[in-house]
Amino acid sequence: MRFFSADHTAKFWRKIRKDYDLPDDVVYLENGYYNIMPRPVLRAFQRHVEELNRRGSLYMRTRLFEDKDVVAARVAGVMDCAPEELILTRNTTESMNTIISGLRWERGDEVILSYTDYGSMIDMLRFQREYEGVETKIVNVPLNPQSDQQILDVYAEKMSPKTRMILVPHIIHLTGQILPIKKLCALARERGIQVLVDGAHAVGQIGVSMRDLDCDFYGTSLHKWISAPLGCGALFVREALIPEVLPTYADYNFGEDDIKKLNHTGTHPAATDLTIPDAIDYYTAMGPQRKEDRLRELTTYWTSRVRAFDQVLMNTPEDSRRYCGIANFGMRHLSPKELHTALLERFNIWTVAIDTPTVKGVRVTLNVFNTFGELDQLVAAVRQLNRV
Ligand SMILES: Cc1ncc(COP(=O)(O)O)c(C=O)c1O
Repeated sequence: MRFFSADHTAKFWRKIRKDYDLPDDVVYLENGYYNIMPRPVLRAFQRHVEELNRRGSLYMRTRLFEDKDVVAARVAGVMDCAPEELILTRNTTESMNTIISGLRWERGDEVILSYTDYGSMIDMLRFQREYEGVETKIVNVPLNPQSDQQILDVYAEKMSPKTRMILVPHIIHLTGQILPIKKLCALARERGIQVLVDGAHAVGQIGVSMRDLDCDFYGTSLHKWISAPLGCGALFVREALIPEVLPTYADYNFGEDDIKKLNHTGTHPAATDLTIPDAIDYYTAMGPQRKEDRLRELTTYWTSRVRAFDQVLMNTPEDSRRYCGIANFGMRHLSPKELHTALLERFNIWTVAIDTPTVKGVRVTLNVFNTFGELDQLVAAVRQLNRV
């Protein structure tokens, strides 16, 4: 249901854009590394830094852990899980590594992953392969699937009685494709296989619910789509599995079924965590669904135009239910680096080149401040590059 007239909507997003300090020398279409903070969140972060500097150890010794619980509960609210199933981490890498290195692997255990998983997750499993004898099986997720079943079949084909886990991104970082995680988790559960979801790009970009997905482990970064300061992440572990995960840094203050046993990271920059509720406030005031709809609408706007150009190869599905704010395209006559460089040097458009064996192009990652006018500039640039 729409509550806004088109005019009201345009005004709303103009106001949001004013909250950002943006570089004025480029059209900023690379928001995938992390999302810069809008000014109200940045100001809150600065206040927390100052407050912490004023109160020092008085704060750390009396309030830190209580506040961390409150912040973790706010994140649990966004991810729709029990607060007892979630810890704050520094980022997705730490969250995922806590699981991969914390499980007791047995020689011959198999893990299914895909070519489009994030490089450092693939490396973590390679490490387990070399030192723990874990076997990896790699699937090729279709760039433009015709159905969820097609994706499930790709994973199902590699399942065996030895499969212990599936590692899967919720949103593929290279292409923006949203995977049918709920269905994959249900399939895996039927076969006694655990699912570790890399949700780096999902939380804050699309609605995410741990209860609904019913996965086993889920790692995310809050400095991406929640726009918290750099160094904020979260890890969800299904309650029944907490005893299975060994802590990276031992902490006997907590029982083996308490997720906090996984959260001993020593002295850390508490102001970043304290800003998470401010970032969540900004995100909820904007409206999570409104944000998701806007990002999808903007992506549909530019992709539907450039798809028509004969030199363009889209690496993102056409079905708008399978993407949100990220999409990727290549051009037949340009390498990813050449395309990226041409966009930057000739048209002042900032993207990122993606050059992997299965995906070649540039990734365009939008944010709530991007405008239709900026996307018209992107489309005009691609139109010119299309004239070879
Ligand atoms: C799919 C995916 N997983 C994990 C990461 C790592 O995130 P971080 O550096 O915040 O740990 C990224 C970063 O872009 C990513 O795209």
